[in-house]
Amino acid sequence: MNDYEKEHSDILRRFGAECAVLLKRDVAFPLDGPCSLALYGSGARRTVKGGTGSGEVNSRYFATAEDGLEAAGFRVTTKAWMDSYDEIYAKAKKDFIRGLKRSALKRGTLAVLDSMGAVMPEPEYSLPLNYGDGAAVYVLSRISGEGSDRRPVPGDILLTETEKHDILALDRRYEKFLLVLNVGGPVDLSPVSEVRNILLLSQLGAETGNILADIILGKSAPSGKLSTTWSAWDDYASVGSFGDRYDTRYKEGIYVGYRYFDSAGRDPLFPFGFGLGYTEFEIAAGNATEENGTVSIDVSVKNTGKHSGKEVVQLYVSQPQGKLDKAYQTLAAFGKTEELKPGEEQKLTLSFDLRDLSSYDEERAAWILEPGDYVLRAGNSSRDTDAAAVIRIDGEAVTKKVRNCLGKPDFKDWKPEKPREEAIDGLPVIHVDAAAFRTETVSYELQHPVDPLAETLSDEELCLINTGAFNLKGSLSVIGEASQSVAGAAGETISFKDKGIPSLVMADGPAGLRLSRRYTRDDKGVHAADGGMPESITELMPAPAAFVMKRLGGNGRPKGEIFEQNCTAIPIGTALAQSWNFSFAEQCGDIVGDEMERFGTDLWLAPALNIHRDIRCGRNFEYFSEDPLLSGKFAAAITNGVQKHPGRGTTLKHFAANNQETNRYGNNSLVSERAMREIYLKGFETAVKESRPLALMTSYNLLNGTHTSEHRGLIQDILRAEFGFKGLVMTDWILAVMNMGKNKYPAPNAAKIAAAGGDLVMPGSKGDYKALLEGLKNGTVTRRQLIINATRVLCLAKQKQ
Ligand code: BGC
Repeated sequence: MNDYEKEHSDILRRFGAECAVLLKRDVAFPLDGPCSLALYGSGARRTVKGGTGSGEVNSRYFATAEDGLEAAGFRVTTKAWMDSYDEIYAKAKKDFIRGLKRSALKRGTLAVLDSMGAVMPEPEYSLPLNYGDGAAVYVLSRISGEGSDRRPVPGDILLTETEKHDILALDRRYEKFLLVLNVGGPVDLSPVSEVRNILLLSQLGAETGNILADIILGKSAPSGKLSTTWSAWDDYASVGSFGDRYDTRYKEGIYVGYRYFDSAGRDPLFPFGFGLGYTEFEIAAGNATEENGTVSIDVSVKNTGKHSGKEVVQLYVSQPQGKLDKAYQTLAAFGKTEELKPGEEQKLTLSFDLRDLSSYDEERAAWILEPGDYVLRAGNSSRDTDAAAVIRIDGEAVTKKVRNCLGKPDFKDWKPEKPREEAIDGLPVIHVDAAAFRTETVSYELQHPVDPLAETLSDEELCLINTGAFNLKGSLSVIGEASQSVAGAAGETISFKDKGIPSLVMADGPAGLRLSRRYTRDDKGVHAADGGMPESITELMPAPAAFVMKRLGGNGRPKGEIFEQNCTAIPIGTALAQSWNFSFAEQCGDIVGDEMERFGTDLWLAPALNIHRDIRCGRNFEYFSEDPLLSGKFAAAITNGVQKHPGRGTTLKHFAANNQETNRYGNNSLVSERAMREIYLKGFETAVKESRPLALMTSYNLLNGTHTSEHRGLIQDILRAEFGFKGLVMTDWILAVMNMGKNKYPAPNAAKIAAAGGDLVMPGSKGDYKALLEGLKNGTVTRRQLIINATRVLCLAKQKQ
């Protein structure tokens, strides 16, 4: 390992346990020292470091649970069980892939197109459990990825009969038994809820197994909190639709995640914000104050238990019901303590701007704070808080006037029949004068800077610079194989060497920098030497195509000197958010930024901050949370880490309402303007304002009938005019496949994208180039707009010099 790799993995190992959430515990853990260990479960040896697809990071090494526990000195007594499980798994996998290919053939399509990311349900089997001495650990894994959604079936969201049986049997048999969840999103734990010790380890990248060993031995303490509600499957909301092929109706409006559970009076198994640790804390809220709309509250946190640990304090606000219905409570601020020893105490000040709680009134196209009582509640989970103070606003305040620009769905948003009442007796009241809030207005007349060099470009050159650099023989880009300059990068812009314009190289994430580990170089450029395309994709291809792709990716016979570019696999997005620790997220961004510098990558195609609208979304593991504040703050922290490195930037994605993978190229999200603004766009706004990311990627889906990449309202009015975004807007990887197969809505068109202010059609193809030229001729897009778009590309390209 190189020094930088060592430094990066040390950071992960030091802080990784902060992402892990202890859901249940008795006194059995942490253990006093390594011992004989019965290690079982799908993830014991086949531990998952992150999901599949473009988010899959090729790290040099990866510590599985078995590796980590053995390295820590445990004597694993269940090797024979693991060997037998490996055989069962390999056979099930083979049958599953064969089945996917067969059914695709029947439908007249290709498995690689419409079964990408398909989740293989965990198989049922019967392997005897040999109860030995010592402790027992059962690692339950799930994996999902881009292209498919998860399903509420045994082996995916539900537990299999085998899992239920084995987990319960081990819990009964061993005094010291830990159920470890090595998953990217919720599984329904209701059948095993009696288990005494449950750890949501998550998928923590390269150091996953080592971090698990550290937690079990108490070398580090889990201090994560859920960033998404974990419930029995049947208790999740079924108000809106999910997984429809063409039109998905977000009828639940703003009632997403805990906003639904709390407002509808449903009790989840483990609420949003929940997480135990090895110790106990006492939280006491002190005085609240208000100044110029900013509310602050002091909270003291004392470690009253026997172990050292960190605590996360969360501040929720219940808003008055008025013209607009409100969720029972909204996360307004949070903070994490330092590591506190037993008996130690720390004061935190939690602050938020009241304006950020404004609700969106569609009738007036305005953000408003309604009159009445805003109850502040502090605690260590959304369901464990104490009311601390009331902010009483004496009238209505219109905090911002904007314009509706997102279109209308064909339904009215759902709302709970009867809002929950909040008792405020005896609480201190702070009076706030509504007239003190100034109404912010937005100018939609944007002043676009124009680079004189862009003005000198010919029409053809402008069209070329408005798309990614493509291969004139046709684009070969299938997830991360489209760069001539950096092996395994996802794409790049065209370079005009004679004009001094270099290309911008982009590589995927978000669980690290996705490049090919090994590559060769010749006069045509770089070539991956170990296959840049994820196996989760090549395995779905017909055998001859897979062979060709692997050869193209350099598998097998690389010629010439082999160079290496080893990147660090960091925790998945959901796990990072579970740390509720910005500074760790920023350090992860710093790791990525450092590796971008080393390997010549300019834009990182991450962080991804779509909302966990439904636990079935196959890409939720890449995303942070069901809550917009948490999502936005983490995207900002990571961006700040990456952008410490001059010239390197992040690309927020996927903008917006990209909350399912089923028919992801052609799905239309029907969402109200209010829900879009309060839930799905809010995190992007926070990230843009707090970290100035260099780029942003639109999504594949349509929004109320318009492709997001062609949506001028979304890109110009909201992103640029309202949020003040100054960076580059690119599309998601629009490929020829988007036009294949039966679809209700046509694929987006490069000229319409450019006209909407989308600066770059990625990864770029001859088809996109021709569509742009055609669009210029027929007036779909103006030359001036292409110059404006090109200016934004040039601006970043020039920063490289
Ligand atoms: C994914 C993006 C990714 C891009 C490039 C797309 O299929 O949706 O998240 O950045 O490919 O690999």
